[in-house]
Amino acid sequence: MTCKNGKADNDANEALPRRTDVPLHAMNAGDGPHSYVQNSSYQGGAVDIAKPIIEEEISKNLDIKNLSSTSPNGVWIADFGCSTGHNSFSAMQIVTQAIYKKHASSGRISGKVPKLFVVFNDVITNDFNTLFSSLPPHRNYNAIGVPGTFHGRLLPESSLHFAYSSWALQSLTEVPKAVAESGSAAWNKGKILYTRDRKEVCDAYLNQYTKDIEAFLEARAVEMVNGGLMALLIPAVPTSWNPETEYTIPSDINLLGSCLMDMANKGRLSEAKVDSFNLPYYFTTPEQLKAILEKSHSFTLERLEILNNPGKHTLCSVEARAAFFRAVHEGLLADHFGSEIIDELFDLYTEKLEASPVFLNPNNDKSIVILAILKRRLN
Ligand SMILES: C[S@@+](CC[C@H](N)C(=O)[O-])C[C@H]1O[C@@H](n2cnc3c(N)ncnc32)[C@H](O)[C@@H]1O
Repeated sequence: MTCKNGKADNDANEALPRRTDVPLHAMNAGDGPHSYVQNSSYQGGAVDIAKPIIEEEISKNLDIKNLSSTSPNGVWIADFGCSTGHNSFSAMQIVTQAIYKKHASSGRISGKVPKLFVVFNDVITNDFNTLFSSLPPHRNYNAIGVPGTFHGRLLPESSLHFAYSSWALQSLTEVPKAVAESGSAAWNKGKILYTRDRKEVCDAYLNQYTKDIEAFLEARAVEMVNGGLMALLIPAVPTSWNPETEYTIPSDINLLGSCLMDMANKGRLSEAKVDSFNLPYYFTTPEQLKAILEKSHSFTLERLEILNNPGKHTLCSVEARAAFFRAVHEGLLADHFGSEIIDELFDLYTEKLEASPVFLNPNNDKSIVILAILKRRLN
């Protein structure tokens, strides 16, 4: 890849601070019954509902005239945390078509239609073979894969015009240390994620999330051209909801955690093993996210929309809900507890979902998705 100014790759590659030391787990590979491909319609719901907003922002806010004149090497788009494709392809279709449309409607622009390049990024263990073998055959862009963590630099300086990420920024670079330390005030004994009644644990998670979102923005600030746009779809929770009658993804994850405790109580695995396991995810509230994004010196927050969990009705059976959770969490769980417990764990989880009047009804899912549009400030 070359830089915007045409300087060769040597410049771009100079000391990219990649953070390959972080053990990150990919979604379930392939396209079989437990795969992410087959079980990601919940996340996919966000793309459709975000479509008109992304189109409108590209139309109004992306400076195509400037891009066309300063981008002899084409217009570069990246999807950070694309997984095995599927939802990513729909999103990239929306973004690339909106860019072509904007170009076509900018009558003052002379010259050729810009060439579009889409960078598909995910962790190094992601199943890129499935992604590349299922690329849409009639796509209007060139596809490039860039493995590595998006919390560090991945692309050359000032090379990226549009950044996208969906359902990925809830992932932390690590579980906050205090959460796993017995004796610490934030020790999360018996749970696999924070719960609202444990303030120290929540604070430790929020602190890590803040650092990680800032690291993501810092890396993109270097990679993006002045005036470049970013659309982030971030899974989140409302500021208040009633745990007696409603649920969100974190409460669902804690239901899965209670299954692990049940298995420990039956002697199927050790309690200490459950105590030492915490998931590296944080689901922000809109207020928390807004505060983090507004602190950025490199991006302006152009728009923040709350999407009312558009995918929830895709999980209309407990089996579908369990399969969605399995496709996302199996790698992490199997790594810590061993793959032999996975079937039993998800059978138990399905039983618990079935027995719960709250979790049984997708209308009680109060999870939300935040769409944040950011613009790279001029240097
Ligand atoms: C729930 S999936 C979402 C995939 C896709 N964007 C979608 O909307 O369906 C989250 C993806 O983010 C990736 N991911 C998580 N942390 C990452 C990181 N630090 N760097 C790159 N990818 C990451 C995961 O590997 C996973 O593929």
